[in-house]
Amino acid sequence: MPTKVDMDKIVSLCKRRGIIFPSSEIYGGLASCWDYGPIGVELKRNVREAWWKAIVHERDDVVGIETSIMMHPGVWKASGHVDSFVDPLVECKSCHLRWRADQVDGKSCLECGGELTEPRMFNLMFKTFMGPVEEEASIVYLRPETAQGIFVNFENVIATSRKRLPLGIAQIGKSFRNEITTGNFIFRTREFEHMELEYFVKPGTDEQWLDYWVKERFNWYIKLGIRKENLRLRRHGKEELAHYAKDCYDIEYLFPMGWSELEGIANRGNFDLTQHAKCSGKDLSYYDAETSERYVPYVIEPSAGVDRSVLAFLIDAYDEEQVEGEKRTVLHLHPSIAPIKVAVLPLSRNEKLTPLAKEVYKKLCQHFVAEYDDSQSIGRRYRRQDEIGTPFCVTIDFESLEDKQVTIRERDSLAQIRVPIEELEKILAAKLRGEAFDATPLWTTRQK
Ligand code: GAP
Repeated sequence: MPTKVDMDKIVSLCKRRGIIFPSSEIYGGLASCWDYGPIGVELKRNVREAWWKAIVHERDDVVGIETSIMMHPGVWKASGHVDSFVDPLVECKSCHLRWRADQVDGKSCLECGGELTEPRMFNLMFKTFMGPVEEEASIVYLRPETAQGIFVNFENVIATSRKRLPLGIAQIGKSFRNEITTGNFIFRTREFEHMELEYFVKPGTDEQWLDYWVKERFNWYIKLGIRKENLRLRRHGKEELAHYAKDCYDIEYLFPMGWSELEGIANRGNFDLTQHAKCSGKDLSYYDAETSERYVPYVIEPSAGVDRSVLAFLIDAYDEEQVEGEKRTVLHLHPSIAPIKVAVLPLSRNEKLTPLAKEVYKKLCQHFVAEYDDSQSIGRRYRRQDEIGTPFCVTIDFESLEDKQVTIRERDSLAQIRVPIEELEKILAAKLRGEAFDATPLWTTRQK
């Protein structure tokens, strides 16, 4: 079983292998901002795509949408964010560090033990000005959730999608929150990406749909390889419910700093559509042709963070193993989210091997995200691929020139199988789907 890894190891692996870098690093970095490198960007895309596939493409009751980050300021007044999206902030009178009041829980400064000010409410929305004049009338907010872009388009989607309720509208995109305290790497940042589904249902069926989505979302993480024992569900107490929520469950993950929220699944009732109808003057009710009723739908909202999911997948996949007396660091990522699916590695950079190795790479990269690497020793190249979670390495050796066969090395079992080049694509495709394949491997072994 994998070691319970500490966050420093994940941060250092991410830096070393081009997964995630501190933002603006050459200027000393910017607090809580991170950049995804060449490997990280593939991982993040895969997480988004796995979510989109499960939520939109594999269902006929959900459609996608992409709305703008800046919206009419009236949206945030109606949604309650201008008045209620606040955290109580206290400041240390000695070192002037600021804390969320609930973090210090009435005690003294966590940094220097100094006395704290009385709490004051701090709104978490970022403000900016639209157009060249910086005045009150031109204030716009960067959205703190993608959900409102969905609510204000409810009528547009219903009118154009030829769908009936229950109907979900899904969106992935950036959100911004001026969090008082950030930290734990990409766990809590001021700029992050949301994956949100607003699932509109008939009032009275909302509780059963909440149960349904809690189970669906919990199982999504398990299907993608997160260990069940590292996940748990926690229902919100009445006092901690967001201003819009009737009920809410958190899916929590056992992060290195302890159990923390990975995703929230809320029953938002009809709060948002009712508010937008009231403030915009537009009727946002739905006519149910089956029952000839008109009502304002209720909404179930599974809301996850792309970055926080990436972090959980990295932590859960991380392992340090002993192989023949040496330490091997490996990411046992599920093949569908692994950044690189297959690495093509000629045994050495040799003029006889290169043409065949390049030919194999050119064929494979049309079907899979593949990488070609011929620098350094083969052992070092295997170690790098293990550390970025590449499920398969294909090695081309001098025998390959004669017998037109190559070796596939499996990341998890370390088994090596020799297969004909002409069957390589088919075999890898089957393996990546987790299927057995019918070609008989010519030999198998377990090697480093
Ligand atoms: N629309 C509902 C909503 O935004 P939330 O519980 O505030 O609910 C949902 O956020 C998810 O978004 C969280 O479970 C987390 O994965 C992610 N998230 C929220 N704030 C974040 C932050 N500051 N940094 C990174 N991810 C964040």
